[in-house]
Amino acid sequence: MPLIAKREFASRRNRLMKQMPANSLAVIAASSLQTRSGDTHYRFRQHSDFLYLTGFNEPDAILVLVPRRAKGETIIFCRDPDAEYQRWNGEVLGPEQAEQKLGVDHGFGLDAFTDIAEGLLEGIEQIYAPLDNATITQALPTWQARYGTKLGEQLLDIQPLIADLRWVKSSAELRAMGAAATISSAAMNRAIEATRPGLWEYQIAAELHHTYLWHGAEAAYLPIVAAGQSAEALHYVDNQRELRDGDLLLVDAGCEVEGYAADITRTWPISGQFNSAQRAIYQLVLAANEAAIAEVVMGNPYDAAHQAAVKMICHGLVQLKIIDGPVDEALKQQRYKKYFMHATGHWVGLDVHDTGPYKVAGQSPVLEDGMVVTVEPGIYIDSTDQTVAPKWRGIAVRIEDTVAVSQNGPRVLTSAAIKQIDQIETAMRETDYAPV
Ligand code: GLY
Ligand code: MN
Ligand code: MN
Repeated sequence: MPLIAKREFASRRNRLMKQMPANSLAVIAASSLQTRSGDTHYRFRQHSDFLYLTGFNEPDAILVLVPRRAKGETIIFCRDPDAEYQRWNGEVLGPEQAEQKLGVDHGFGLDAFTDIAEGLLEGIEQIYAPLDNATITQALPTWQARYGTKLGEQLLDIQPLIADLRWVKSSAELRAMGAAATISSAAMNRAIEATRPGLWEYQIAAELHHTYLWHGAEAAYLPIVAAGQSAEALHYVDNQRELRDGDLLLVDAGCEVEGYAADITRTWPISGQFNSAQRAIYQLVLAANEAAIAEVVMGNPYDAAHQAAVKMICHGLVQLKIIDGPVDEALKQQRYKKYFMHATGHWVGLDVHDTGPYKVAGQSPVLEDGMVVTVEPGIYIDSTDQTVAPKWRGIAVRIEDTVAVSQNGPRVLTSAAIKQIDQIETAMRETDYAPV
């Protein structure tokens, strides 16, 4: 049984249609297969908006929403169950099954789209569409011919309306994210236990992928497995360096379940034991992570978590003499930014960097029950940084959790991924797990 039920998809479509004027319709396209090389493709990933509204995981389909009809009409255009196509590519749902399986009002083959869309345009004065989608923009000349210059003015972007719906998660969505977080946490713990000097970053990535796939999930983004200096590049995904005794390993990796992502980062010593400089930086980042999580509560501005993390890190960096004080001055001058240069988090959901604004009317938005954020402070000290004592050079630590706003305070979905120093050192010392 899928975690997101058919009726939830129907209710999302209805909520979207309620926001659209009666004389409008929406055309929303699925993703297409992307060529990897020659005649091979990347693994298919559905467009998040299309997935949100249908739960349908085939390429090239088109969803049309017509709010003016009765209670609102939903039509899907999808691939016909052509025997030759299915011989090579496996089963497709087909338009007839689509009505029953997806709960849409009508299903048609893709070939019927242009003709039927023509008929649907009767009386329509506004068309909502994802304006960055090739399928839609290719259909535009037909509509343009019908509407002439009028269409240009009446063509509206559907994405902000869907983005707004996706922002607050339902209980079923939170269950999917909880499942993704649990699997991602297990993967992270296994990666910690697998670590030893002499392995390679890609071998740690293999541990992560193994756990995701074993549980029927897949990576929500390319895992960052960054040993030592690799972590100086924030989005390093090369994963080709050898793990060296004495270095830290920073791993930022999460999987997705039914399209819903978890986002975790953990950092641990390759030797299994933090040295004193690594420990000091780790403790500071952990304190910032915990202080920021405590701010992920209903009614707080989104930005409160970042402010808490910045204060903690700035204070700590002054104490450790990595930046000059006094703290107030360092905060005002943003001296911490040299070492903590990114935001403390982002929205998470169907996209790892999910929809949701970071400013509403110029203000940080207020957190509501069901919103999900990451909390991911970090400190990154370049190996070449001559402004700090040599013991700090080359230390990079990020600790990231996926946290849901709830009636009962912050719900850390990734809490099963160990992050206390004694937990990490004990797990690495006591494990008998040996990757092959
Ligand atoms: N995994 C990307 C991020 O943490 O934002
Ligand atoms: Mn993140
Ligand atoms: Mn991350």
